[in-house]
Amino acid sequence: MNILLTGGLGFIGSHTAVVLAEQGYQVVLVDNLCNSEIETHANLELITGKEMPFHELDIRHTTALVRILKEYQVDAVIHFAGLKSVAESSTEPLKYYDNNVGGTISLLEAMKACDIYHFIFSSSATVYGVPQYLPYDEDHPLVPMNTYGKTKLQAEEILQDVARSDSRWSIAALRYFNPAGAHESGLIGELPKGVPNNLMPYVCQVASGKLPYLNIFGDDYDTKDGTGERDYIHVMDLAEGHVAALRFIEKNIGFYPINLGTGISCSVYELINAFEKSANCTIVKKVQSRRSGDLPIYFACADKAKDLLAWHAKRDLQSMCDSSWKFQANLAKNL
Ligand code: NAD
Ligand code: WQD
Repeated sequence: MNILLTGGLGFIGSHTAVVLAEQGYQVVLVDNLCNSEIETHANLELITGKEMPFHELDIRHTTALVRILKEYQVDAVIHFAGLKSVAESSTEPLKYYDNNVGGTISLLEAMKACDIYHFIFSSSATVYGVPQYLPYDEDHPLVPMNTYGKTKLQAEEILQDVARSDSRWSIAALRYFNPAGAHESGLIGELPKGVPNNLMPYVCQVASGKLPYLNIFGDDYDTKDGTGERDYIHVMDLAEGHVAALRFIEKNIGFYPINLGTGISCSVYELINAFEKSANCTIVKKVQSRRSGDLPIYFACADKAKDLLAWHAKRDLQSMCDSSWKFQANLAKNL
């Protein structure tokens, strides 16, 4: 089977490319490199020992997408390409709607023109908003608190309408919780441009000396130790979840929103403690006031993924920290 990955050189796309290639799928990558590096392509071919065609392309370029879908006789698309900064989405809403919603429409139009109806979408736990109960299951109300989350929800709504309009469509919207970790080779990992927004890449850069200290955004929440709690999921587990979802949509028509999380909630301090063991260092930290828009705690109900996809996360927090640090240390060596 031939699979097109949009945003294939990004953090989650690149790890999924490895697992797909290892399982015998033919992988084609497109990315506009707005948040990734071309070197990742060579590293993907090095890890897998396989050729992986790559096209530098913006997914809003529908006619170019059609050419690629035809050239490689693509059977299914996994759509990772998107912008993901919650903060930037509030200052640049049009950029986010254009890229995340407009980009998804362009891709669906290109697929339809080529009679391709198998689709996996990178959604996010952020579509749920303030928890009315925990763990979030897929029936939890969808009330995102920020523009980024709204773009993901709008894309999901479009996908649901598209699936209703034509019974050939088979679509999974995978709602990721907090992806972390890296491939065991240390050759690919999370590579954000600029100062990281997310906790794990920030901790990595403090450990490597690139950033002076870690801000702890609040230690007075009503959580196990006062810091925010999240459901961190190893990016390789997430990658395997996509392969499971691909197998599922090969056999089932319709629209399926599915959480990909572990069901385990971990605090900022727990993550730092685990990371300090991995990197054998002390993370300098400064407690600050709460970050605007942050929730105290959320984590996944992972039952639907287990039932429908026969998938569950296998790797633990220590493995996320070990692999993240291995990747970061490799980066520092190559500078
Ligand atoms: P990433 O930024 O590392 O990867 C996204 C890739 O898409 C980048 O390589 C970027 O260059 C590319 N891209 C962006 N817009 C594009 C466009 N218009 N055309 C072509 N390429 C484009 O992010 P990631 O962490 O790998 O996230 C992948 C997807 O998963 C995103 O849609 C994101 O919103 C979603 N997601 C991420 C997280 C997370 O915390 N990492 C959580 C939930 C959902
Ligand atoms: C985790 C915890 C922070 C950085 C975001 C998006 C979400 C999804 C994943 C895409 C929180 C604390 C963080 C720091 C800290 N992305 N923290 N110091 O906010 O749960 O989720 O990324 O879909 O939509 O909202 O992730 O890694 O930013 O924060 O104390 O420097 O770490 O307060 O408790 P978040 P995060």
